[in-house]
Amino acid sequence: MKIQILSKETGKANANALFFVKKSVQFSSILSEEAENQVESVLEGMENGPFEDLEFLEIDGKSTLFVNAAKERGLSGLDHLRMAAYRLAKRAQKKQIPVVSLMLADAAPEQFKAIAHGLFYADYKFDVYKSKPTPLFEATFEVVAGDHVAEFKKIADEVIVEQAAINTAKDLVNTCANDLYPETFVEFAKNVAKEFGISIKVRDLKALEAEGFNGHVTVGKGSSHPPYMVTLDYDGVKGNKAGKTAGSKPPHLVIVGKGLTFDTGGLCLKPPKSMPEMISDMTGAASALAAIQAIAELKLPIHVSAVLCLAENAIGNKSVLPGDIFAAKNGKTVMVDNTDAEGRLVLSDGLYEAGTLGATHIIDLATLTGAMVRALGYAVAGFFSNDDDLGLNVINCGETCCEKFWSMPLEEEYADALKDKFADLKNTGSDAGAISAALFLQEFVPENVAWSHWDIAGTAFVTKQWKYTEYGATGFGVQTLIELARQIGFASR
Ligand code: BES
Ligand code: ZN
Ligand code: ZN
Repeated sequence: MKIQILSKETGKANANALFFVKKSVQFSSILSEEAENQVESVLEGMENGPFEDLEFLEIDGKSTLFVNAAKERGLSGLDHLRMAAYRLAKRAQKKQIPVVSLMLADAAPEQFKAIAHGLFYADYKFDVYKSKPTPLFEATFEVVAGDHVAEFKKIADEVIVEQAAINTAKDLVNTCANDLYPETFVEFAKNVAKEFGISIKVRDLKALEAEGFNGHVTVGKGSSHPPYMVTLDYDGVKGNKAGKTAGSKPPHLVIVGKGLTFDTGGLCLKPPKSMPEMISDMTGAASALAAIQAIAELKLPIHVSAVLCLAENAIGNKSVLPGDIFAAKNGKTVMVDNTDAEGRLVLSDGLYEAGTLGATHIIDLATLTGAMVRALGYAVAGFFSNDDDLGLNVINCGETCCEKFWSMPLEEEYADALKDKFADLKNTGSDAGAISAALFLQEFVPENVAWSHWDIAGTAFVTKQWKYTEYGATGFGVQTLIELARQIGFASR
């Protein structure tokens, strides 16, 4: 897919098809009077939506494409634009329309950004496992940008970087567990680090054992694929004054991702029906890697690290047994009540590492609990935070990126349920499963750090079409992470 930002005049010459959003376009610049009347009559018809599909109309001998621009239930105005653009691109691919002009001279920058994202969502296909892959038709989208040419070019470049990162995350998530295991994930991360000039530190099983990162050791020891912890670092403020306001510490955002390349549940084995989706249990780590990739490529003025907590939760003769007790990196002892509650164990190490790095802000993201899937489903992620400003920032950045976040309570009344008879803690708690998991994580959050935990168990992967994902990884969270880095970075300048 190609996107070109043009002035009005050049756009007029090249259009095979025309895209517009309701009445925001001056048709006379591109259409004959007769054609304009036809457009107007279709537009009038569209006032009374909803519309099941796109409508076509022959205008001036060219195929003009009308996209279903009806408002969808529950979607914001910007997401509505994304969806319209996504459908347009899908249709252009199917009909093999080489050039589509988008008449966006009147569009606001954020509207254009939404449209560009919608177009690029249509450009993803995961067919590496097909014996005969069929590439997507490459359509060119010409954006007639009026006075906004320079601004829209900058936005298009940003969208391309963000979408490449989203696709990195999706590819990792969709790759099956016989190809993607901790070791191959590490190789992938090393390549990303090299390509984007990000520093990387890899701890293998020996190092994890030696340093006492026992969450990883405990979860990963049952598998023939050993666990790893990867720390990536991008410092976008080093060497310049940005972020160094007098007397205050410059922000350092650390993104911690759950990276279970497969979660069988361990000896507390999952039922067969819920297992195949567990190829997506490394979405947190994939999204953390994708986000730091984009943040580095965009050269955002902020210090960001990503900690990938990689392990496979498998059954073997060395698997952790229910009732086993280990000492976590911060000294607290943990009884493994349920081997399927493994994500919080590896994350205990990741949160500790974030503290060592000197984090001012920590976001951890994890496909952590089935309880969150039942509470909020596939369209909304639940988040927790110990800091109201950060929490508000998460919601706002999510809205900007058309990703929905709902604030959940770190309810202290449920904290006692995590206490164990022998150990300090156990890895299961009250019936409020998602809250218990968050309270467990809070035990490992370094002091005086703004922290937010995102439970993306519902939003990471879909088994039926949802917005711009047909099946598989959604890439949920990557954009909001990038936007947060942008907001925190620029706010400190
Ligand atoms: N990876 C799962 C959570 C999950 C469920 C993600 C469904 C995506 C879709 C996690 O490791 C898990 O199994 N959690 C248990 C915890 C319980 C044993 C306390 C759960 O939620 O059932
Ligand atoms: Zn599990
Ligand atoms: Zn899991």
